[in-house]
Amino acid sequence: MREALLYFQSPLLVPLALLVLVWGQPPVDAVLPPSFRIEQTSDSFRLLLQDDLLLIDHGPGHEAVVLGTGTTTFKETTGNFIINDTITERLPLSSFSVSAESESAATVTLWSSTDAESTVTLRFSTSADSVLIGGGAARPERFDRLWLRLHAELDETVFGGGEQYTFFNLRGRDYPVWTREQGILRDPDNPLTDIISLDGGAGGDYHTTYWPEASFLSSRGYYFRSVTHEYGALQFSSEERHELYTQSAGALDVRVAAGSPLQLVQWANTGRQLLPDWASEGVILGLEGGTEFMMQRYQQARDAGIKVAGIWIQDWSGIVNTAFGERVFWNWRWNETHYPGLDTVIQTLKADGVRLLAYINPYLNIDGDIYQNNRDKGYFLTDASGAEYVQDFGGFSCVTVDLLSEPASAWYEQLIRTNMLDLGISGWMADFAEYVPVDAVSAGAAALSSPAALHNTFPALWGRANRRAVTAAGKEDDTLFFVRSGNTEQAQHAAMTWSGDQNVDWTTTDGLVTTVVSALSLAIAGCGLNHFDIGGYTTQRPFFVRSEELLLRSAEYAVFTPVMRTHEGNRPDANVQWYSNEHILAAFARLSRQFAALAPYTRAALSEYGESHTPLQRPTFLHYPNELSGYTNLTGYQYLYGSDLLVAPVYEEGAHSRRLRLPEDSWVHLWTGEPWQGSQEVTVDAALGQPPVFYRADSAWSELFKQISQITE
Ligand SMILES: *[C@@H]1O[C@H](CO)[C@@H](O)[C@H](O)[C@H]1NC(C)=O
Ligand SMILES: *[C@@H]1O[C@H](CO)[C@@H](O)[C@H](O)[C@H]1NC(C)=O
Ligand SMILES: *[C@@H]1O[C@H](CO)[C@@H](O)[C@H](O)[C@H]1NC(C)=O
Repeated sequence: MREALLYFQSPLLVPLALLVLVWGQPPVDAVLPPSFRIEQTSDSFRLLLQDDLLLIDHGPGHEAVVLGTGTTTFKETTGNFIINDTITERLPLSSFSVSAESESAATVTLWSSTDAESTVTLRFSTSADSVLIGGGAARPERFDRLWLRLHAELDETVFGGGEQYTFFNLRGRDYPVWTREQGILRDPDNPLTDIISLDGGAGGDYHTTYWPEASFLSSRGYYFRSVTHEYGALQFSSEERHELYTQSAGALDVRVAAGSPLQLVQWANTGRQLLPDWASEGVILGLEGGTEFMMQRYQQARDAGIKVAGIWIQDWSGIVNTAFGERVFWNWRWNETHYPGLDTVIQTLKADGVRLLAYINPYLNIDGDIYQNNRDKGYFLTDASGAEYVQDFGGFSCVTVDLLSEPASAWYEQLIRTNMLDLGISGWMADFAEYVPVDAVSAGAAALSSPAALHNTFPALWGRANRRAVTAAGKEDDTLFFVRSGNTEQAQHAAMTWSGDQNVDWTTTDGLVTTVVSALSLAIAGCGLNHFDIGGYTTQRPFFVRSEELLLRSAEYAVFTPVMRTHEGNRPDANVQWYSNEHILAAFARLSRQFAALAPYTRAALSEYGESHTPLQRPTFLHYPNELSGYTNLTGYQYLYGSDLLVAPVYEEGAHSRRLRLPEDSWVHLWTGEPWQGSQEVTVDAALGQPPVFYRADSAWSELFKQISQITE
């Protein structure tokens, strides 16, 4: 027999309700007022959210908490990690007792009768918007890892996990929480991945990502967010349960909220991402090679009728020749030899309505004067002996700015202001932040939960430094910086993300369609503004080389994203580029005009993001919750852009149509104006230049969409 024992509710429930009354519209469509209930029998207990949402189901054979010991080693090769996590002991805790502390808090103590040191407390309490789970192992020095198990149901789907690329629904697999390179090809079933992986694991796998998080949205109507920077994983391979695995065994830090998918995603999103108006006016052209070459290409774009919003030059700081070929000189200031007259060119371009964007990362080449003039000031991560930690970055060596140390971060923020913003640069790729070695030491380490947390903490520190630099200069509204790496805190800082380094191919593990999955998983994780390298990045003759078709399919889909930015790839000469022939130039001119024409809609979606925190690219189930039942992986390959456009990028080579799911609504096919009924899977014609895009028949933006469909050259 089960007896309902304890009910807990947020003590803030009443004031919250008053707030709504007094101020009318709450800014965010709030999640359900948090409450939980614990039911127990002599050998089992169940934790239910709200009235009936079963979250934890503890009993013999299905214990809620398992403690463990083991050893974990990390072998790093240029940002790829081979992780050997060997578990030596796993101890399920079957005994428990429940005690109520107040009207809104209770503690469950668990232990194993076979080990007196095995005590774990789970402390449940309510805050204004969520149920908190704190506590942890009483003796983390004895048990250095812990699994918290949640009840799962067979037809349940789960989404998020930070930024994921291969699978949108995470169910059926495990996702380590460790920021690193996303990998090249990311498919161990493909022998080429294995060959690439001979180089320190560079091939990657379905779960390797720059931005992992132990957070997810469940189709059962709750959001689970765990903050942990020590190594861990989200484990979804079991049919009966989900597991949070953490090596922060002594300090659980979990928040669980309940509500509809839309409410939960709004709750998870910070709404703090920023997009300056100029970015919606045209394409940002990724170029390199010096002032003269850059201006020639720009003129070529203008002559072809391409609407240009910006020019993005990675190599503004110069080039170094390495054994691996030419690389950017990681010494972050204007290189006047490579880009003569850049300061005046920036002003000329600005007068044309075109911005200049550059590039920076948190590393400094030790051959550069910036490092040379600032060594021995305590600005860089060190090794255990206190010496500045020098890492090989593939043909050159770098130190890492110690962004956890306030003086070092402040110094770097000032460098960004002086060397970039004061020069007139309007944005940049804020690259990397995944390479912090496990044995690196920060002067600010006292702020960490443990030294092992530095690696996963670092990405948001990098986002923070960029954000602070822009804010201090008063240029938040005018600057576009974009990051790729992240963790639970990064959505507070990043102005925008880009999807990182896709292959210039059509694979579903590392090609075009993974950018859809990444935008959607990031939208769930809390960062609702993303874009990608048009045509992909990673090029490797003769295996992956960018084709004209890939470039154009990628660009036609970028029209329906917040930013259109090209990248020549890591081997520009091997790839087809927007300037490769007249036909592509003409296509880019048309697409750039469509993109610019969509600007009013994009800006409306952006202000909605600021107010209600609804991400720009959304899974269809945010507005059509029925889409969650009978889930198919088509859901991860299409999206709503704003609330009125449904976009299904063509991601297969040679395809002239594609299959997608139209949610329950009345839709209009953008290119033909034909009405389509929703609530079905359909196959839609998709000639090059006309990817499947639909708008809601009753959209207030219908006229604008019709105009866009008429931009045919
Ligand atoms: C992983 O580590 C364990 C324990 O340290 C060791 O026995 C095992 O050989 C390692 N495995 C690999 C593949 O290196
Ligand atoms: C500027 O770039 C050129 C070529 O890319 C390089 O040879 C030179 O060392 C750089 N100069 C400085 C001062 O960084
Ligand atoms: C998507 O689903 C189809 C059909 O079930 C399957 O063949 C394919 O492998 C799936 N793809 C992914 C990436 O899950």
